[in-house]
Amino acid sequence: MKTLHIDLGERSYDIRIASGLLDRAGEELKTVCPKAKRLAVVTDSNVMPLYAHRLIPGLEQAGFETALFEIPAGEKSKNAERLAWLWENLMDFGLTRTDAVVALGGGVVGDLAGFAAATVLRGVDFIQIPTTLLAQVDSSVGGKVAIDLAHGKNLAGAFWQPKLVLMDPDTLNTLPDKTFSDGMAEVIKYGCIADRDFFDFLSAHPSRAEIMAHIEHVLYTCCDIKRSVVESDERDTGARMILNFGHTVGHAFELAGHYEQWTHGQAVAAGMCAALRLGLALGVTESGEGMEELTNLLQAFGLPLHISCPREVLEQAVGLDKKNTGSQITVILLKEMGKAQPVKLEREGLLRDLEPLLGS
Ligand code: NAD
Ligand code: GLY
Repeated sequence: MKTLHIDLGERSYDIRIASGLLDRAGEELKTVCPKAKRLAVVTDSNVMPLYAHRLIPGLEQAGFETALFEIPAGEKSKNAERLAWLWENLMDFGLTRTDAVVALGGGVVGDLAGFAAATVLRGVDFIQIPTTLLAQVDSSVGGKVAIDLAHGKNLAGAFWQPKLVLMDPDTLNTLPDKTFSDGMAEVIKYGCIADRDFFDFLSAHPSRAEIMAHIEHVLYTCCDIKRSVVESDERDTGARMILNFGHTVGHAFELAGHYEQWTHGQAVAAGMCAALRLGLALGVTESGEGMEELTNLLQAFGLPLHISCPREVLEQAVGLDKKNTGSQITVILLKEMGKAQPVKLEREGLLRDLEPLLGS
């Protein structure tokens, strides 16, 4: 088993990564929630038939009373109605302030269950058991929890760190290829922003089978990079923004496709290509650095290199980026492959520079 400790003072916690961990979760939870009697397990309609029967008996054998709450799979469940439904169900179950909420699923389940945990009874303990690659390398770590509003994604939320993150890499075997590739976009992002050796490792293992043969190393390396970023900027006021490499333009692509044509991972993939091109065009990125390797790697996982995007959509995405204020915007470029460089640009200038790179 690989263990990573996230050091955030009294909000510190461990990430544990091991094959078969799902069956042993009861004992692990006992150590982090010694006072809990009840565990409310939130999952979705795809994950429930695959993994609930592996998790629940172990939790009950460890002495917990459990209840399972299933939401329909997909982003549409990450909304205020579903959150209110969950709050009421948690109350019906008799959850108390010493009990805990467990998220078993991808980022949708983690974000919704985490926000419920952050808010019900003014906050109860929260455990993440992520089952998608994206959730294992990104959303289950760092404490961001949220729901979507009609105005946009993740607009109501909280920082609510989990007490423990349990990752069983075997759960990734049942992911559709497209969902696995979505997670790979974030995996590749970590190599781009923080670790050239890891990027080279990925380039040398450009298939799902090869990644799965080294999955503990891949998960550990990504989570370790996220750990160091989150430890230095838990509340996302500065350093954490390097995790947004490929995301500002990616957000425009998601908007252009009405969040239906392109998945988040696909949008981030094309967004990373655009950001690398922008860095090269502005002279922030050393010339010739990384473009061919990045495009080869993304292509190997079936991820797009280009997404065309109308100017109005780009304007909206860049202007509405909730992480920035005023006439300037900070974009994450690369100084070189493996080293992110935040750069402040005038929004108008950014739009001007980006347009020819996007072929819209
Ligand atoms: P998801 O939770 O919708 O999961 C993708 C699909 O895979 C779903 O259909 C799900 O039912 C299915 N699934 C999950 N585990 C499975 C398994 N082991 N086998 C087979 N199918 C499985 O999406 P996601 O990509 O995991 O997460 C995306 C969400 O995460 C978005 O809402 C995004 O906003 C959020 N997110 C949050 C953070 C954060 O820091 N909190 C970071 C990145 C993304
Ligand atoms: N996924 C970006 C963050 O956690 O900050």
